[in-house]
Amino acid sequence: MLGALMIGSAARSATPQEIIPAPVSIQTRTGQHIYTGDELVIRTGTKAFAKKTADLPDFAKEGAYELKISRNRISIEANGELGVFYAMQSLNIMLGRMNVEDKPTCTTLECCTIFDYPRFPYRGLMIDTSRYFRSKKFLLRQIDAMALMKMSVLHLHLTDDEGWRMQIDRYPRLTAEASHRWCFDWDTWRRAGRRLVPEGTPGSYGGYYTKDDLREIVAYAETKHILVIPEIEMPGHSAEVFKTYTELACTSVLHSIERQKDPDAKRTARGELDEPGTYRLWDLCAGKDATFEFLENVLDEVMEVFPSKYIHIGGDEAIKKAWVECKDCQKRMADLGLETVDELQSYFIKRIEKFVNSRGRSIIGWNEILKGGLAPNATVMSWRGIQGGLEAISQDHDVVMTPEQYCYLDRYQDNPDNCPRAFGTYVPLKKTYSFDPADPSIPKEKLHHLLGVQGNLWAEFVPTDSHAEYMLYPRAFAIAETGWSPAENKDYDKFRERAILFEDLLKANGYNVFDLRTEMGEPTRPVTESY
Ligand code: ACM
Ligand code: ZN
Repeated sequence: MLGALMIGSAARSATPQEIIPAPVSIQTRTGQHIYTGDELVIRTGTKAFAKKTADLPDFAKEGAYELKISRNRISIEANGELGVFYAMQSLNIMLGRMNVEDKPTCTTLECCTIFDYPRFPYRGLMIDTSRYFRSKKFLLRQIDAMALMKMSVLHLHLTDDEGWRMQIDRYPRLTAEASHRWCFDWDTWRRAGRRLVPEGTPGSYGGYYTKDDLREIVAYAETKHILVIPEIEMPGHSAEVFKTYTELACTSVLHSIERQKDPDAKRTARGELDEPGTYRLWDLCAGKDATFEFLENVLDEVMEVFPSKYIHIGGDEAIKKAWVECKDCQKRMADLGLETVDELQSYFIKRIEKFVNSRGRSIIGWNEILKGGLAPNATVMSWRGIQGGLEAISQDHDVVMTPEQYCYLDRYQDNPDNCPRAFGTYVPLKKTYSFDPADPSIPKEKLHHLLGVQGNLWAEFVPTDSHAEYMLYPRAFAIAETGWSPAENKDYDKFRERAILFEDLLKANGYNVFDLRTEMGEPTRPVTESY
């Protein structure tokens, strides 16, 4: 029985077994420590600890710590600041608080020695801010929760068909005209033709981050050792750009744009035009130099705000049908001797990569960037299963695994009779927890290309910040533990008990979590419909 199950009782004492992610090793000892706040001894840079961690990869050396709780004192040892920070997160969890500044809710700690370090450097969460806008306050709060779980990356999906969410000084119309839609509800909006309206339109819904907002988020995350990676989508998922910069669409879709304005146009259930010779507004034109000029100017401003080594350039789900009939795209293909539109997409991504590299940064893209040939220095984020990730590793590229079957937190986490509408597959906590990114087919000498794991919260069916927390927790706990803890330490039944305690901690701090105590489990009817 875990001590914290007796929350609120005078007898409560915290054990190291409560910590998420599960530490590498825990040595329990007899006795208890009564916490006062004055007993902490921190040591960094000792030869002894360097020796103890000598065989670890560099990122693990940096994050490694030893936390020793004895009757009279608490001591932390680490190679540097990061390890001390992680030790403090473990201690915070035992003390039942979110932040070091908060008052502990449990001051009786079981004596123990924890030795711990991360399994992977990349332990991420992606938050989609386009489908529904997420407030700055929400993002700052999730950084607190992520830090407590020792996560290392917050990936912000900042642009998509539903709205452009970042202030760009050179193109103010992006936020003035493409950050709001005529109604709140996403499903209503897309069924009625996906119409964006200018900021300030009565009854409209939307939002965007100013550069100051984003700088504040980045700076706050940095204090919690979390890297914020911005994503600017291209060439697909870019319909909002055409709202203001129509000329960046292919010539073949300009006709569609005109038809989009016609309320009588025949549409499919997804709100797309249903006429021969028309295309969904989606991909930027790969033939026009103006497209690259626009993206480079945008990316320059993105890189000015986000110091991240990685810039995510999207790359997923480009339709490319319009490229086949666009005179500019066809001319580009002819000039370069390209035979397929996949090769044209590869040209697109490589050209952007060259630009981003010229600024001293690197690109990450969804696994579709493998099509037609991978850009030389790209990191791949594998979402359609792990196959793309495995292929990229075999080509000596770095990879983050985020297969939708395990890591998509927009899916149903419980029987649909017990939770609101979600994206249509069943991905409960147990499924997310069962994922191991280190597929046995990866040769040992290439394992260093596996950077880690990420959970993704797409937001089509996540209308509010509070609902977003409900979708994130507890499944983000599983992502955090998969990214940090040794695979051989994972045990779902024990994890689930810890997850309930961790939920209690988040709930006590005002987070809206999906309550595992109410989980119904396996759906009793199919949940395969998407939308
Ligand atoms: C994705 O889910 N389209 C990356
Ligand atoms: Zn084109």
